[in-house]
Amino acid sequence: MMQSKFPALCVFLSFFTFVELQNEEEKPTWPNYRVPVVLPQSVSRLDKAKFDAEPRLDVASSCGPECHKHSATPTLEDLKDYMSYETLYSNGSRTMTDVGLYVFGSRVEPKGKSRSKRQIYGHDSRFSVYGKHFLLNYPFSTSVKLSTGCTGTLVAEKHVLTAAHCIHDGKSYVKGAQKLKVGFLKPKYKDGGKGLNFTDPRILEKMKFQWIRVKRTHVPKGWIKGNAIDIGMDYDYALLELKKPHKRKFMMIGVSPPGRQLPGRRIHFSGYDNDRPGHLVYRFCDVKDETYDLLYQQCDAQPGASGSGVYVRMWKRQKQKWERKIIGIFSGHQWVDKNGDKQDFNVAVRITPLKYAQICFWIKGNYLDCRDG
Ligand SMILES: *[C@@H]1O[C@H](CO)[C@@H](O)[C@H](O)[C@H]1NC(C)=O
Ligand SMILES: *[C@@H]1O[C@H](CO)[C@@H](O)[C@H](O)[C@H]1NC(C)=O
Repeated sequence: MMQSKFPALCVFLSFFTFVELQNEEEKPTWPNYRVPVVLPQSVSRLDKAKFDAEPRLDVASSCGPECHKHSATPTLEDLKDYMSYETLYSNGSRTMTDVGLYVFGSRVEPKGKSRSKRQIYGHDSRFSVYGKHFLLNYPFSTSVKLSTGCTGTLVAEKHVLTAAHCIHDGKSYVKGAQKLKVGFLKPKYKDGGKGLNFTDPRILEKMKFQWIRVKRTHVPKGWIKGNAIDIGMDYDYALLELKKPHKRKFMMIGVSPPGRQLPGRRIHFSGYDNDRPGHLVYRFCDVKDETYDLLYQQCDAQPGASGSGVYVRMWKRQKQKWERKIIGIFSGHQWVDKNGDKQDFNVAVRITPLKYAQICFWIKGNYLDCRDG
């Protein structure tokens, strides 16, 4: 199996390089977004958290892209409420932080009004990533596994971005969220493996997870309120702070450009899909539809991949280099009831300017370092 998949990935990667060379002429470029400011205003203590929800690796909703586009525009007060957030500490105590939103300039958050039409593109496929060379190197090395079963992405020295539903079901924290750990793939045998034949690729490539405890997690109130699942979907993201730095290269977050501005309208993500235990699974797919808060696609993904960072690679003009950034969080399958027919979508939460400001503040602890999305 290893023999058959590995060439496939190599072929694929060379194809990818080719595509990128093709694009050099009309380099897809990161837009500059003016990011609003999300500032904590007051912190209040909550009761100790309950951890009684069953871990759910999928989301369900009857509100698809059309429905989302027609939902009411939130007021500034609504947004302040949704962007307020709950923090869970590893000792089980919780706080609620209310935030203020400040928008510089006259631009206010637009909502809905996606001009893109749904289009059918070629078939999607997944690649298991084999080989230490790929798994231990950027960008695949930024994918980590959560002890509750999802995937997360390294977005700073001590921070992991994931989906909110991986730790909280909207009402309560999932079992296992208090002792949450993040798993890093490491070679199973280092030089110390006595008597092992290290020229044998089957030994050399054996990997295992090494775990780091999570110190605290932030979940936006928009998700917690989200018993009204249809609003909650837009806020299905969470940030985890590790007890110690992971010392790997991480991927930066960025504001999600509209689908049509992405190279080939294409997004990428890697996750620990349930049906391929122990494997990191990479895929790319085309954005089929979008709302202000969500990206819809129909590429293959199994539970376990939720929480993966959705990334694209574009030209950063100021730095004169190509840069990968996470522009969304893979949320999961969504079954949409359309005239009695169940339609299946994959949904990713977009990092909007507001969400960028919030997540960036969680990482940096100040807003001055968060002005450029
Ligand atoms: C739990 O940890 C937080 C953060 O370290 C601290 O502020 C709080 O007082 C602790 N709560 C309890 C009950 O020990
Ligand atoms: C080690 O593995 C390689 C590759 O599988 C094989 O050619 C070699 O004979 C093995 N050496 C020993 C001592 O088993």
